[in-house]
Amino acid sequence: MKMNLLFIFSVILFFGAVSFSALAEPVEDKQALLDFLHNIHYLHSLNWKQNSSVCREWRGVTCNGDNSRVIALRLPGEGIQGPIPPNTLSRLSAVQILSLRLNGISGSFPSDFSKLGNLTGLYLQFNNFSGPLPSDFSMWKNLSILDLSNNGFNGSIPTSVSNLTHLTSLNLANNFLSGVIPDINVPSLQSLNLTNNNLTGSVPRSLLRFPGWAFSGNNLSSETALPPALPLEPPSPQPQKKTKKLSEPAILGIVIGGCFLGFVVIALLMVCCYSKKDKEGGLPTKLQKKEGSLKKNVSESQDKNNGLVFFEGCNLAFDLEDLLRASAEVLGKGTFGTTYKAALEDATTVVVKRLKEVPVAKKEFEQQMEVIGSIRHPNVSALRAYYYSKDEKLTVSDYHEQGSVSAMLHGNRGEGRIPLDWETRLKIAIGAARGIAHIHKQNSGKLVHGNIKASNIFLNSKGYGCISDIGLAALMSPMPPLGMRTAGYRAPEVTDSRKATHASDVYSFGVLLLELLTGKSPIHSTGGDEVVHLARWVHSVVREEWTAEVFDIELLRYPNIEEEMVEMLQIGMNCVVRMPEQRLKMTDVVKMVEDIRRRSPENPPSS
Ligand SMILES: *[C@@H]1O[C@H](CO)[C@@H](O)[C@H](O)[C@H]1NC(C)=O
Ligand SMILES: *[C@@H]1O[C@H](CO)[C@@H](O)[C@H](O)[C@H]1NC(C)=O
Ligand SMILES: *[C@@H]1O[C@H](CO)[C@@H](O)[C@H](O)[C@H]1NC(C)=O
Ligand SMILES: *[C@@H]1O[C@H](CO)[C@@H](O)[C@H](O)[C@H]1NC(C)=O
Ligand SMILES: *[C@@H]1O[C@H](CO)[C@@H](O)[C@H](O)[C@H]1NC(C)=O
Ligand SMILES: *[C@@H]1O[C@H](CO)[C@@H](O)[C@H](O)[C@H]1NC(C)=O
Ligand SMILES: *[C@@H]1O[C@H](CO)[C@@H](O)[C@H](O)[C@H]1NC(C)=O
Ligand SMILES: *[C@@H]1O[C@H](CO)[C@@H](O)[C@H](O)[C@H]1NC(C)=O
Ligand SMILES: *[C@@H]1O[C@H](CO)[C@@H](O)[C@H](O)[C@H]1NC(C)=O
Repeated sequence: MKMNLLFIFSVILFFGAVSFSALAEPVEDKQALLDFLHNIHYLHSLNWKQNSSVCREWRGVTCNGDNSRVIALRLPGEGIQGPIPPNTLSRLSAVQILSLRLNGISGSFPSDFSKLGNLTGLYLQFNNFSGPLPSDFSMWKNLSILDLSNNGFNGSIPTSVSNLTHLTSLNLANNFLSGVIPDINVPSLQSLNLTNNNLTGSVPRSLLRFPGWAFSGNNLSSETALPPALPLEPPSPQPQKKTKKLSEPAILGIVIGGCFLGFVVIALLMVCCYSKKDKEGGLPTKLQKKEGSLKKNVSESQDKNNGLVFFEGCNLAFDLEDLLRASAEVLGKGTFGTTYKAALEDATTVVVKRLKEVPVAKKEFEQQMEVIGSIRHPNVSALRAYYYSKDEKLTVSDYHEQGSVSAMLHGNRGEGRIPLDWETRLKIAIGAARGIAHIHKQNSGKLVHGNIKASNIFLNSKGYGCISDIGLAALMSPMPPLGMRTAGYRAPEVTDSRKATHASDVYSFGVLLLELLTGKSPIHSTGGDEVVHLARWVHSVVREEWTAEVFDIELLRYPNIEEEMVEMLQIGMNCVVRMPEQRLKMTDVVKMVEDIRRRSPENPPSS
């Protein structure tokens, strides 16, 4: 009896506690929000009632787990007007995400937002703020996304932006900012948009890694047009047409890039002349042409010091001098260095990659090149030759006229775009999978690609995917400032690109599959508040059973492919599972991707 009473008592206590916590409210945060509400003008009706629950009922408010603090406030497009009343929102000291975008808020930047030390995302874009940007950023230790675009901010960009050590995305586009761009030395920064301001001077060194459009619409000096200002990808599948329409900065970029190569020629020739003195026959110009290349080992020992080393089966007839004399065009600045398209006099075109920061010793570099250069497979873009000297490391590989899969998927969206049909995407996936599986078998199963992404995949002559840029990750310095494009492909466990594994390659391939299916970039912005990793986004959409909504709109016009797409989606998702040991193996992925077509009933070929 006693026991029962005790039991009943504790049950009551338990439910009491539960209902108490359900009723718990962040009283002070609620008052701060009410003070805000009562001092602003807003057009739409907010359901913020004194006697309703702030955590469960108020629109736009998110609380933490035990309902003790407000951690996010999102009021996009509520028609809020006028300045933000002081000492209201700034009392939400635990708030992490604050979004007031798409309103008509005016006045200067609310200086008391400096009290919001927990902020990770601040979204004030599309308002009518004016005056200077805050001068001190040091209090937002955790701020990762700052979007102040499309306002009327003026004055200069404070150097203290560099204090935002966790910043990944900064958008200040469409304001009236003037003065020079400060050296924003934040390695974590992945996305930058400074377009349409009144900025002057040149792009500082720390920001040269961002594409040229990030700075367009300003009054910057021509120094801006250095090669990094060129697009990261080959601009179009039809380079010839594009050449005529090249913008001024692009032309400047090419000229400067060309000059740079010219400089390399001179420098190398000087090196050659010097070494000629102490070594007979060491001149690269005399080196193996067509015939020599078949005798790889011989030619290698002949010119180990300053010549191009060709690989077996290479039918290209040129030497270093030809290569450096070729007219070159910058194709892009990638993770490992700048890529040039070099048109040789005999009308062959090759891709020359100038590697930056190769910390490994020559021996190790050569060994890796040997492994990569010996791969001959229809789905692996062949490495034709390499060059190693103390100051310069080059690789020479085949040029692919149609451009990369990334350019095909994301280039020229909008008017005049040629859609990438399902057949082509399927063949890209099958080819890339075969290529990667083949790579994984090399060097007794030890070779890892390490940098699988759409901009490294091309089409072979049969229209299947063909993968390039193999195995360079293992040779390069770790790269702290990850480009947007690389970041989204990287498996969560990989913190250093040199430590890539077969399993992390599978992850990156999975992201590629999702990219082919959705047409979305591996990291994209939803136009609203968050920067989204493709893998996570697909996961959330599929979990909510909106599977049909993940697919690229462009694919919806083709009949009878939905089952195939769903099947590919499942393969992709099994590649991007979090735990590396639970991911598929590449050989299995190949079978599964090939089976997509085999298993489905005869399909009418899409036009
Ligand atoms: C809250 O208060 C309003 C008046 O301010 C009243 O109309 C409404 O019924 C109340 N709601 C609850 C749930 O008590
Ligand atoms: C961050 O939030 C916690 C409560 O979650 C609060 O105690 C702390 O003061 C906040 N930090 C700052 C810098 O405001
Ligand atoms: C920043 O975030 C980390 C965890 O993400 C948290 O532990 C820390 O308290 C935060 N710092 C501030 C100043 O809010
Ligand atoms: C924005 O603010 C300016 C003054 O700073 C004012 O003249 C203008 O009308 C405002 N625009 C809107 C859409 O509120
Ligand atoms: C910014 O704009 C305000 C008016 O909105 C003006 O008074 C101020 O001088 C401007 N500051 C700069 C640096 O242009
Ligand atoms: C913030 O940035 C300024 C200018 O870059 C610098 O002088 C200052 O020391 C930084 N403050 C902190 C707290 O890092
Ligand atoms: C940069 O900002 C401008 C102005 O808001 C916008 O038109 C453009 O699309 C932005 N670029 C990117 C890539 O976000
Ligand atoms: C841009 O800056 C120049 C001077 O550097 C100034 O004359 C011009 O009025 C500014 N334009 C805008 C739109 O602020
Ligand atoms: C661009 O800057 C130069 C020098 O800073 C100035 O003379 C010129 O008026 C500016 N042009 C515009 C359109 O603001």
